[in-house]
Amino acid sequence: MSTRDSGGTRDRRAAKHERLLEVGTSDHYEDAALYDFEYADRTDDVRWYRRLARERAGGSPILELGAGTGRITCRLAQDGHPLIALDRMQAMLDVLSQRAAKKKFAHAIKLVRGEMVALPCEDASVGMVIVPFNGLMHLYRWEDLLTCFREARRVLQPGGVLAFDVELPDLEWLMWDPVERHAITRFVHPTSGAKLVYSTNHTYDLQTQVCHVRIYYDDAPKAGQPFAPPKTPRKLVHLAHRQIFPEEIRNLVAQAGLTLESLTGDFLGISLRRGIQSQVVVCVRPD
Ligand SMILES: C[S@@+](CC[C@H](N)C(=O)[O-])C[C@H]1O[C@@H](n2cnc3c(N)ncnc32)[C@H](O)[C@@H]1O
Repeated sequence: MSTRDSGGTRDRRAAKHERLLEVGTSDHYEDAALYDFEYADRTDDVRWYRRLARERAGGSPILELGAGTGRITCRLAQDGHPLIALDRMQAMLDVLSQRAAKKKFAHAIKLVRGEMVALPCEDASVGMVIVPFNGLMHLYRWEDLLTCFREARRVLQPGGVLAFDVELPDLEWLMWDPVERHAITRFVHPTSGAKLVYSTNHTYDLQTQVCHVRIYYDDAPKAGQPFAPPKTPRKLVHLAHRQIFPEEIRNLVAQAGLTLESLTGDFLGISLRRGIQSQVVVCVRPD
């Protein structure tokens, strides 16, 4: 193979990877009503961020990166905190805006469409930066994570807190058979009323640390009939999540000039061990 050919192949592979990352950052957040429906029973994190904000935010604004539909944002606004809610997806911000208006918190939340690596705030202007529910797993290179942490440090007041949670990489799960369907669940779509079956599988790219999750939505079989995945799914959603290992977090946080206060599991304040799903991190901007 000539050098030119191998360069061309490399370029095509890189372009395909970039496209997959782009789709994997947006696909899952196009149907914001479905997103809310799928994660309605996730409440431990809401309780944890509310308590942290009560104890550490003072009266200063809280900046939420990847605020989504406002699952956490609106509860913090309800507790009396002023918020800046940043997200790159208009569909998610639209739902956040409707939810805030319905609950009469709209005045307390400034919505910003933007990227987590360029924060729309003055230096030392916020008391807390939060990135709940795996938002940072959409930054696919360590350089992007470092930029985000540096930006958080810049906008935090001295003594201010950066808090986030990301999945704890589970190597056994990551290497599962990429074809077999998992988490097969029947449900009714919250807006269309369609009777569907949800299922997933995934491929882990060891080179980039990105897990490419495929979420399938298929027509539900008649009651009592088993589900057999059709050749072509009714809808396929791609979700790209970069795995972030604990030592990476410690390293990047330190490089950004933040002090790591705690790195614990599952919103329970316990040390990381097998079976834990979320790494929950609190860092402080030193005075
Ligand atoms: C899993 S959702 C979390 C939403 C919300 N914080 C929650 O806890 O339900 C991740 C959010 O991050 C947003 N996001 C992903 N990459 C982003 C980026 N680079 N900059 C800003 N927002 C981003 C997505 O659009 C999505 O709304």
